[in-house]
Amino acid sequence: MKELSNLAMTLKGSIIREMHSAAAGMTDILNFTVGEPDFVTPKPIIDRAYQSMLEGKTFYSQNRGILPLREAISAYHKKVDGDKIAVDPNDNILVTIGATEALQLALFATINPGDEVVVLTPCWPNYLGMVTVAGGVAVCVPGYEENGFAPNPADIEAAITPKTKAIMVNSPSNPTGAVIPQDTMDQIAALIEKHDLFALVDEVYRTIVFDGQRAASLTDYPAIKDNIIFINSFSKMFAMTGWRVGYVTAVPQLIAKMTLLHQNFANSIFVPAQEACITALEECIPDSEKMTESYEKRRNLIIKGLNDIKGLSCITPGGAFYAFTNISEFGMNSRDFCLKVLEETKAVTVPGVGFGQSTDGLNLDNYIRVSYATSEDNINEFLNRMNDFSQKFFG
Ligand SMILES: Cc1ncc(COP(=O)(O)O)c(C=O)c1O
Repeated sequence: MKELSNLAMTLKGSIIREMHSAAAGMTDILNFTVGEPDFVTPKPIIDRAYQSMLEGKTFYSQNRGILPLREAISAYHKKVDGDKIAVDPNDNILVTIGATEALQLALFATINPGDEVVVLTPCWPNYLGMVTVAGGVAVCVPGYEENGFAPNPADIEAAITPKTKAIMVNSPSNPTGAVIPQDTMDQIAALIEKHDLFALVDEVYRTIVFDGQRAASLTDYPAIKDNIIFINSFSKMFAMTGWRVGYVTAVPQLIAKMTLLHQNFANSIFVPAQEACITALEECIPDSEKMTESYEKRRNLIIKGLNDIKGLSCITPGGAFYAFTNISEFGMNSRDFCLKVLEETKAVTVPGVGFGQSTDGLNLDNYIRVSYATSEDNINEFLNRMNDFSQKFFG
């Protein structure tokens, strides 16, 4: 066999998979790794997909996605965001295989080999892989725990060079649950305008925000409207991770190019899944809101519980369903810590080291990610086991 490509040989796998492998074969596992809702997709959505299949809608669709779904996305955003997001169904929207494909296409459409992309860390590990796949160079800008993991705009500006083409912004964030505060977002928007950057705005958790807040969004700034590549998904909002439907909105020229890329990568999305997403937007917002209420209750439960355990601490996340927990008092690196926790408590968590690159001020090895998209019973059991673990450790 000839040699595989450099890309194939250098891409790294997700640390989450590594933890799953470590847990394989164990019984009575408590899984706190998964970055997805534990709810089953609301029934009207499932019914619509079933109906669509019975109607024989089993063919390829338009590359951009079926028009009725693009219209439903457009109507939804007009209702929620007014005219902040450009959502002409014919010009501004492309339906993709989740936010994952949308992000990758956005990078392919904007990055040349060697171009730099500012990535705010801690970040979803795929960001680094995606930039690499697109031939770009990820320049990590850390957010620190004392700032609620929000980035410092001065650090972002310092990271911008003539090669910087884009910035990836994810708020609420995976893995920290951090919601970037309004004044920080103001400054990030100003930097995007000043340096004329593409802004990949990943808001897959935009509806999972707590304490009656609304997350600040880069879509709030008319001056950078044309710079924005807005990425959203049905995955987290409607508990539809396995359906693989997301979308991207941007200026027509970008959408046209991303559609060509999508034609080559994926062609189109399963039509019954697309039709089901129309039902999601038109009928299932109340289901989505109930899920968010439940995540908020779980957040309150787990954050208090974690902070009551000796050696653990966690700031209160404003959204998503992750607790990025400080484990530094245990004096272990995050991988060893997670493996020891797994061995002794059968709870699976994710080492912080997988969520970006550590820098002077942000040692990712001081953290683990705990995904609390799971039942309150599981959370209570996890907290009990972690408490026992801590007591044994500190004696
Ligand atoms: C920040 C972030 N963006 C995008 C995605 C991918 O979402 P999708 O299922 O729509 O591809 C995830 C999934 O975990 C995520 O955490």
